[in-house]
Amino acid sequence: MRTPPMRVFLAWVTLLLLSSVVSAQDYDDPEEKKNKPPPEQESCTGVFISYNFIEREKEYPHVKNATAQAWAFKSQLTVLNAGLDELKAWRVFIKFQHEEVLVSVTGAVIIDGDDLPAKVSKNGTLFAGYPMADLKTSVETAGDINQIQAKIDILGTVFGIKPPGVPLPKTIRLENDGYKCPKIMRRGSSMYSCCVRDKKHKVKPTKTKFLPRQYGDLSLTYDVLQAYAGSYQAQVTIDNNHLLGRLDHWNLTWEWMRGEFIHSMRGAYTHRRDPSECIYGPAGQYYKDFDFSQVMNCDKKPVISDLPADRANDSKVGKLPYCCRNGTLLPVVMDPWKARSIFQLTVYKIPPDMNRTALSPPQRWKINGVLNPTYKCGAPIRIENTQFPDPSGLQSVTTAIASWQVTCNMTQPKPKEAKCCVSFSAYYNDSVIPCNTCACGCEDTDRKCSANARPMLLPPEAALVPFDNRTVKAKAWAKLKHNPIPATLPCPDNCGVSINWHIDTNYRGGWTARVTLFNWDEIPFEDWYTAVQLNKAFQGFDTVYSFNATKLVHRSANNTIFFQGLKGLNYLMGETNGTNPSKDPRVPGKQQSVISFKKKDNWDIDITKGDGFPTKVFFNGAECSIPTGIPTGSSDKRARVDSMLVILVGIATFALMTDRFHW
Ligand SMILES: *[C@@H]1O[C@H](CO)[C@@H](O)[C@H](O)[C@H]1NC(C)=O
Ligand SMILES: *[C@@H]1O[C@H](CO)[C@@H](O)[C@H](O)[C@H]1NC(C)=O
Ligand SMILES: *[C@@H]1O[C@H](CO)[C@@H](O)[C@H](O)[C@H]1NC(C)=O
Ligand SMILES: *[C@@H]1O[C@H](CO)[C@@H](O)[C@H](O)[C@H]1NC(C)=O
Ligand SMILES: *[C@@H]1O[C@H](CO)[C@@H](O)[C@H](O)[C@H]1NC(C)=O
Ligand SMILES: *[C@@H]1O[C@H](CO)[C@@H](O)[C@H](O)[C@H]1NC(C)=O
Ligand SMILES: *[C@@H]1O[C@H](CO)[C@@H](O)[C@H](O)[C@H]1NC(C)=O
Ligand SMILES: *[C@@H]1O[C@H](CO)[C@@H](O)[C@H](O)[C@H]1NC(C)=O
Ligand SMILES: *[C@@H]1O[C@H](CO)[C@@H](O)[C@H](O)[C@H]1NC(C)=O
Ligand SMILES: *[C@@H]1O[C@H](CO)[C@@H](O)[C@H](O)[C@H]1NC(C)=O
Ligand SMILES: *[C@@H]1O[C@H](CO)[C@@H](O)[C@H](O)[C@H]1NC(C)=O
Ligand SMILES: *[C@@H]1O[C@H](CO)[C@@H](O)[C@H](O)[C@H]1NC(C)=O
Repeated sequence: MRTPPMRVFLAWVTLLLLSSVVSAQDYDDPEEKKNKPPPEQESCTGVFISYNFIEREKEYPHVKNATAQAWAFKSQLTVLNAGLDELKAWRVFIKFQHEEVLVSVTGAVIIDGDDLPAKVSKNGTLFAGYPMADLKTSVETAGDINQIQAKIDILGTVFGIKPPGVPLPKTIRLENDGYKCPKIMRRGSSMYSCCVRDKKHKVKPTKTKFLPRQYGDLSLTYDVLQAYAGSYQAQVTIDNNHLLGRLDHWNLTWEWMRGEFIHSMRGAYTHRRDPSECIYGPAGQYYKDFDFSQVMNCDKKPVISDLPADRANDSKVGKLPYCCRNGTLLPVVMDPWKARSIFQLTVYKIPPDMNRTALSPPQRWKINGVLNPTYKCGAPIRIENTQFPDPSGLQSVTTAIASWQVTCNMTQPKPKEAKCCVSFSAYYNDSVIPCNTCACGCEDTDRKCSANARPMLLPPEAALVPFDNRTVKAKAWAKLKHNPIPATLPCPDNCGVSINWHIDTNYRGGWTARVTLFNWDEIPFEDWYTAVQLNKAFQGFDTVYSFNATKLVHRSANNTIFFQGLKGLNYLMGETNGTNPSKDPRVPGKQQSVISFKKKDNWDIDITKGDGFPTKVFFNGAECSIPTGIPTGSSDKRARVDSMLVILVGIATFALMTDRFHW
């Protein structure tokens, strides 16, 4: 009888493991004791994560104040798959708490943090496995510890914790969907947790080798189309999935991890063409007789931009579907064709990756645009190879050699970091509640204004002029209304775009609102859009007069009405000089429309209590800052249809439109 080789191997491994356990137990060396896994690891049947503080050394400057003393520290994060399910694309969240500055991390990348050295103690840090992103199971690998465990060495600086104190993080947890880390244990200089599958989380059984594609507000796919020993061709596809998401003049950046460089590109370009980084780096040593002057980009972190539209038909750099829009990515609601962007690049590799199959995508992707939502991207995740249908319509598909997906989600703007703001007014109150102070940020200059004061109420006509020209009017208005005038006046909102929402009329069967968009910058917005979330009033939406409206009901935008300019009115012009620049203030670009709502089926809506004001407003995808209060007043006042604002804006808008149409 012959024993199958696998059995022999297994027995051998078991013996080896056993003997190592036995020897570790027998050993009395304190070093060995330290390395002995805690009993919780032995009993863990999920994913065991542990953080071990290894050592520290005093750093310069040596100071008397113990809390201000810096220490260089070394620690190790271990992620062990002790379960029966493969752990794909592992991610571990660590919340540091002692002013840590990470200097080097091997075995993982920090996804949402700054570049190294990175201050990480504020909000915690997400680590994603790199190069080992997936952890196989013991069963699949016959207990090969190198395939089921990832070790991440962390080097950094920590403040104030002198021996014997141990600077451990506040918390650690596995971030992968469907796992829970119920309790975190600390022992000596380590903390650990056994993360187990959440029974409530349903796992869809997949037959495929890789993870399914994930939803992301933006989805970026990195497909390798052709591979050679020393180079490969990749295609990047950017899909805008969020109904309100948008990018203008997008810049995409990532980090090459293996010394690669971009030889050429189609459909996009990089701003910097500096071969010196290649020539003096490892690429220059390997590609000795190479003409680097023709290379597109040698940066470790290239900044990639879309080509302008006039290159679309250029046979050298254009001629790609979905390319060359000067960095514009619109929502699907506006134009499905423009909700996708594509470019291709040829990547040259350096040893030891000179092998057709040695493929690894760049990491740490970031994308941004001008006055757009802020996106936060995850790590590239290996997905099933993308299939491309035959362009000529044949019933055949071409498959990419390897595909990765990066998902990015929109983040909510922090207070005072919005990109646009909203002011409220209503027929029953003659004051406009202006945009919040510093809604779009305030520079830390020694300006004599208060960044935290409430904005001063304005007379309607003051809302039409730039902030700098409002002060006199605002003060006079406060006097007239017997409102206090603060000694330090509030700072401006500093927003490039503001939106006024005015409740215009309120009658038995319905009500109307008037929305006005102001552009306070000189750059016009092409294909602008705005979206308002009206939780109570959404049902009653009836018509809009000079915009094109779409009602949205979707996971990414609910109870939201989407407005865009009608054909020919798709420009929100920039700010211009007044007719007589020496006397008149500058004039913002404007767009305006009246929106009517019905009260049918919605009788309990109370307009004067604020049900007619939106809960969220977006401009070009970015969420705008909303006033903290609403205009108040007596509800039985008759609707004053023609307030000062209507007349003035009406005239201005009319003048602007006639300007546009009669040139
Ligand atoms: C010691 O340093 C900490 C942190 O820099 C500081 O907050 C504290 O005030 C300092 N204490 C003294 C006594 O200087
Ligand atoms: C941490 O989060 C807080 C609140 O979310 C935010 O105000 C702060 O800017 C963040 N800090 C960093 C370094 O990201
Ligand atoms: C590119 O070629 C297509 C088809 O020939 C044409 O419709 C389009 O206007 C051209 N674009 C530019 C920017 O020349
Ligand atoms: C393309 O975008 C750049 C800014 O990224 C701008 O300066 C340029 O005018 C745009 N070109 C066209 C044709 O719109
Ligand atoms: C309004 O927008 C939708 C979606 O973009 C479009 O299909 C429709 O034709 C537009 N309607 C008008 C009147 O412009
Ligand atoms: C390329 O890589 C594969 C697997 O990584 C390996 O089996 C093969 O021997 C390598 N070929 C060369 C020429 O190094
Ligand atoms: C994109 O990068 C270029 C060059 O670095 C820069 O001039 C431009 O302002 C960037 N655009 C955005 C939206 O960050
Ligand atoms: C974005 O959100 C989706 C769910 O809405 C989530 O599955 C995905 O992991 C998120 N991506 C990032 C990078 O946070
Ligand atoms: C939208 O919101 C309504 C009410 O708030 C809710 O009933 C509905 O399920 C939501 N729809 C989606 C797609 O989230
Ligand atoms: C606007 O007025 C300023 C002076 O107030 C002048 O320098 C500038 O050239 C004017 N711009 C235009 C487009 O007239
Ligand atoms: C408006 O404010 C600007 C900036 O302070 C100033 O230069 C200009 O003279 C003001 N215009 C009027 C009409 O007050
Ligand atoms: C108008 O609304 C503001 C803000 O809510 C309030 O302070 C003011 O008293 C109201 N004016 C009248 C006449 O009700």
